[in-house]
Amino acid sequence: MTEEPATEPATEFDRFGAEATPLSAVAQTGDREVETALRPRKLADFVGQPRVREQLHLVLESARKRGVPPDHVLLSGPPGLGKTSLAMIIAAELDAAIRITSGPALERAGDLAAMLSNLAEGDVLFIDEIHRIARPAEEMLYLAMEDFRVDVVVGKGPGATSIPLEIAPFTLVGATTRSGALTGPLRDRFGFTGQMEFYSAAELEQVLRRSAAILGIEADGDGLSEVARRSRGTPRIANRLLRRVRDYAEVRADGRATLEVVRSALRVYDVDELGLDRLDRAVLGALVRSFGGGPVGVATLAVAVGEEAATVEEVCEPYLVRAGMLARTPRGRVATAAAWEHLGLRPPAEAGGVDAATPTLFD
Ligand SMILES: Nc1ncnc2c1ncn2[C@@H]1O[C@H](COP(=O)(O)OP(=O)(O)O)[C@@H](O)[C@H]1O
Ligand SMILES: [Mg+2]
Repeated sequence: MTEEPATEPATEFDRFGAEATPLSAVAQTGDREVETALRPRKLADFVGQPRVREQLHLVLESARKRGVPPDHVLLSGPPGLGKTSLAMIIAAELDAAIRITSGPALERAGDLAAMLSNLAEGDVLFIDEIHRIARPAEEMLYLAMEDFRVDVVVGKGPGATSIPLEIAPFTLVGATTRSGALTGPLRDRFGFTGQMEFYSAAELEQVLRRSAAILGIEADGDGLSEVARRSRGTPRIANRLLRRVRDYAEVRADGRATLEVVRSALRVYDVDELGLDRLDRAVLGALVRSFGGGPVGVATLAVAVGEEAATVEEVCEPYLVRAGMLARTPRGRVATAAAWEHLGLRPPAEAGGVDAATPTLFD
C-alpha cells in the first residue's frame, strides 16, 4: 500500500540545506571520508545486529565450504545503521572484489549490462538504494541473478535482436531503506534478507569507543555513554556527534570528552537529553501547546511549525514515534504522556493511554 511518489523525496540534507541538523541519519557532506576510516572491516568488528550477523555468518561460511558464491543478500533498514559497511564486510569475508553502484545510477539496462559483464567469478556487486533501480534494468537483473546471463537487445524496431550474454557467477548485495518499495519478483530473488534494527545505547557506546580510539579522541566512559543515549539508535549519528563533541572539547576545554564537556557541547548543537533537535521539539511543543495534545492532522501541525508536511512526516515523526512521544492515529497525531513530561508539562489524564504499549528505544 506504499504510494510511490512521482519524484523521489529530497534527502533530509537537501531539505535542511545549510542548516542540516547533526541528528540527520542520512550521510552529509564531510561524513564520507571519516566514515570510510570508521567502517568496520570484518564481521567480528561489526558491533550489534546479533541476528543479522549470525545469519550472515552461516550464509557465508556454508558457501565457503561448498566453494560457491553465496546467495544474493538484501540488507534492509533505515539510513545509518551499517548496510554499506556490511556489504563491504561480506566482500572482505569472501576475499572477493566488490563493485559498487546504486539504483539511481542504473537508469538504462545498458548501464547494468556493462556493470555485469565486467564482473569476475565470485565478485560481489553492491547496489545501494536498490529500490530506485529503473524498470528495464530491474528486469535484466532478474535473469542475471537467477541464471547468470543477460539478454542484450541490439537495434530497434522489427530488426532488433536479442543476444544472450554469459555473466560470471557473482553475489548481489542490495541495500534499501524501503524494502516495501521493492517489487515482489526482485525481493524473491534474494536468498537472504538481513533486517537491520536500531542499536541499543550500550551497543552505540561500543561503536563510540572504537571510533574514539581510531580518531584519537580522549573520552571518559560516561561521556561516551551520554553521546550514545542521544544518538537515536544510529551509529552514523553517534559518530557525527562524537566529532562535534571533539570540536567543542578542543576549543572550549582541554580536549577530553568528559560528561560535562559532552553535555555542554550537545547543548550548543541543540541536541537534547533524548536526542531531539529543535524541529522535533517545535513539533511536540505545537502539538501539546497549540492543539492540546491532539489529535491534529500532520498538515496543520506542519503549518504551525513553519515546515513542509513531508519534512515533519518523514524526518521528525519516525523518531518521535519510536521514542514513544507521538502516536499516529486515524484521527491525527497525538502527544503521549512522555511528550508532555519531556517538555516539562503535566500530561492531561487521557494522554496516558496511548504510550503504555509503545516500546521506547532506550534501555
Ligand atoms: N555495526 C557497526 N559497528 C561499527 N560502526 C558502524 C556500524 N554500523 C555503522 N557504523 C558506522 O556508521 C557509519 C554509517 O554506516 P553505513 O554502513 O554507511 O550505513 P548505511 O549504509 O546503512 O546508511 C559507518 O561509517 C560506520 O562507521
Ligand atoms: Mg549506505
